[in-house]
Amino acid sequence: MDYLPAENRYQSMRYNRCGASGVKLPAVSLGLWHNFGDVDVFANGRTIARRAFDLGITHFDLANNYGPSPGSAEENFGLMMKKDFHPFRDEMIISSKAGYLMWPGPYGEWGSRKYLVASCDQSLKRMGLQYVDIFYSHRPDPDTPLEETLGALDFIVRSGRALYAGISSYDAGQTAQAAKILRDLGTPCLIHQPSYSMFNRWIEDGLTKTLGAEKMGCIVFSPLAQGMLSNKYLNGIPDGSRASKHTSLTADRLSPERVAQIRKLNEVAQRRGQSLAQMAVAWTLRDPVVTSSLIGASKVAHVEEAVGALAKPDFAAAELAEIEAILK
Ligand SMILES: NC(=O)c1ccc[n+]([C@@H]2O[C@H](COP(=O)([O-])OP(=O)(O)OC[C@H]3O[C@@H](n4cnc5c(N)ncnc54)[C@H](OP(=O)(O)O)[C@@H]3O)[C@@H](O)[C@H]2O)c1
Repeated sequence: MDYLPAENRYQSMRYNRCGASGVKLPAVSLGLWHNFGDVDVFANGRTIARRAFDLGITHFDLANNYGPSPGSAEENFGLMMKKDFHPFRDEMIISSKAGYLMWPGPYGEWGSRKYLVASCDQSLKRMGLQYVDIFYSHRPDPDTPLEETLGALDFIVRSGRALYAGISSYDAGQTAQAAKILRDLGTPCLIHQPSYSMFNRWIEDGLTKTLGAEKMGCIVFSPLAQGMLSNKYLNGIPDGSRASKHTSLTADRLSPERVAQIRKLNEVAQRRGQSLAQMAVAWTLRDPVVTSSLIGASKVAHVEEAVGALAKPDFAAAELAEIEAILK
């Protein structure tokens, strides 16, 4: 049956302006890093993506290597575009990236113009799209001049493959340089995509200040620390959870000290009338420099819970202080 999105999909989501650009992003966005590959059940990913769109999530984040196997998340998303979302393309912000290993040989990763342009073409083909809304340099390349990597992003935008350029995981200094290079080329850098959560606060050490000064948007990934900041691991590692799969989240990250911290944070969340996952999402959005919190989900309920965070976004000073004390 044809997909008909919820008519009320724009009624409750909050849309935040992305830096000084004309674009707004939903406060919660959905990433397809895990759970959308060819090892996963397509129908589950499709239900998650549909529910996300029904809840006002207009932004779907991909990368060349998402799967496994690499490329398969983009292929599956392409199928969803064809089956469900193609009438709504203009209501969506779809991003992809290149930076990590995608194909063998010297041109299959990092930041050369050769790799970025070829990878962007491959992503468009896999997703069946004429253009992506945002194309990112997925990581800084220590061996390629920034001018080359960012010149490639400028070319990708000017050639119509993408509407906007973005960078991911660049530090504060690299970000300031990238902003200047792209500004001088006439393709301002729309957005930075760094990791950020209560357990990973590196962006507070200079990057957020730079993003504010450069008037660049910021979409933070892994706001739940890959699920650690939820009630999932309070009593061990459940079967089927990300930590049980020994991929990007390893069980050793859930030390007894970490679990004790999670329990205390869970109590703060309960007192706020939120789940821990909701408090984790709300916490990443408390600095207005953060445009969107980029979650992952293995179930529809995860998306619903994350969006529910927006019902209670504010923190009392005492709550923030209590969280700080737990995180010390
Ligand atoms: N730019 C980059 O370098 C980079 C790197 C990583 C990620 N990203 C982007 O960020 C997106 C999100 O990353 P992420 O998946 O690590 O984000 P996350 O939101 O921190 O973790 C998502 C995972 O946490 C678990 N979870 C979510 N909601 C839950 C809930 N309410 N209760 C219990 N468990 C819950 C699920 O894992 P289970 O499987 O355990 O259910 C889910 O797949 C990615 O899809 C990608 O688009 C970008």
